Amino acid sequence: MSNRIFLRVNNITQQTTEAVSITFDNPENTRLDYKAGQFLTFIIQKDGKEIRRAYSLCSSPTTDELPAVAIKKVQNGNISQYMTTNVRIGDVLECLTPMGIFTTDFLADNHRHLVLFAGGSGITPMFSILKTALSIEKNTKISLIYANKDNENIIFKNELESLEKQYADRFKIITVLEKAPFFWNKGYKGYLDTAKIKKILDSLPKINIRDTEFMMCGPQPMMKVIENAFKELSLPLDKLKKENFSLSPEESAEGKAKIDTTITANDQEGFEVKVKYDGEEHTFKVPPQKTILEVALSLNIDLPFSCQSGMCTACLGRCVAGKVHLDEEDALTPKELAQGMILTCVGHPITDGVIIEID
Ligand code: FES
Repeated sequence: MSNRIFLRVNNITQQTTEAVSITFDNPENTRLDYKAGQFLTFIIQKDGKEIRRAYSLCSSPTTDELPAVAIKKVQNGNISQYMTTNVRIGDVLECLTPMGIFTTDFLADNHRHLVLFAGGSGITPMFSILKTALSIEKNTKISLIYANKDNENIIFKNELESLEKQYADRFKIITVLEKAPFFWNKGYKGYLDTAKIKKILDSLPKINIRDTEFMMCGPQPMMKVIENAFKELSLPLDKLKKENFSLSPEESAEGKAKIDTTITANDQEGFEVKVKYDGEEHTFKVPPQKTILEVALSLNIDLPFSCQSGMCTACLGRCVAGKVHLDEEDALTPKELAQGMILTCVGHPITDGVIIEID
């Protein structure tokens, strides 16, 4: 069994000069099964190589009939260039089934405050999350703090404004513009910083912090600022979920974290790992200088992955026995790490008898 699926492009909408949303038909005779906040990993064949890139779903599984992703063109981003300019209605794209842990439990009797920080195209998973929460949770308030370069680059601007009108008592957008027109007075000007974050949070509806959940998705510097502000303002970091933008090695400026699937005679034997995935079990040894994913791919074991650098969580698994060291654990919360969640693309077994389960 494979977690690869094929989706036919149903429609393409230009959202801003640099961003499009792509709507897909559901897979034949079924509805795409996903949670608000999850992403699709597209598999593109380029120059004889398979390249993967994850894009968050911007559609809501409860309010939108068809699944959709939004994609912003990235400088030096071959795949985002391809997706925003070459893809046509009727094209069939290969991808992995939806993945990702940047989500929350949507329950009709939830009575909470969702505070969402989005920067630029980081709005994509938030759009899915807020539509879902507004439709399911009648007692939940949502505040969207949405930072953008300028007025022209606000993805889903019209849709968000009409939702704000429709749910005036429950949904509020706080706009932050890096380059705002001189007379613009509909939000905050400049970059987000601790002072602005404090001012914004003070202005939001007062709901017990216990019933408040924070989520953020945007460029790394913005998310660092928010994390630092949380520390300075003594806000609970464990209530702040984050979604990293994930660049594939081909798209990352450093080109780091390229998967090396060659196993040489110099590779020491390493520790044994058993991976349970898709109803199958695979047992292999992982030399210390290799990651679990690298060795699996060298053995043609088709595990899920995308960014290959510990950012996107596409390769997420749970270590249920033994110990795994992660080179990079920023994409996981302390709670997820405590639950044994690991990322195979940056994971090395450090004991024998490691067992990893992948959903
Ligand atoms: S493939 Fe993205 S975190 Fe491992």
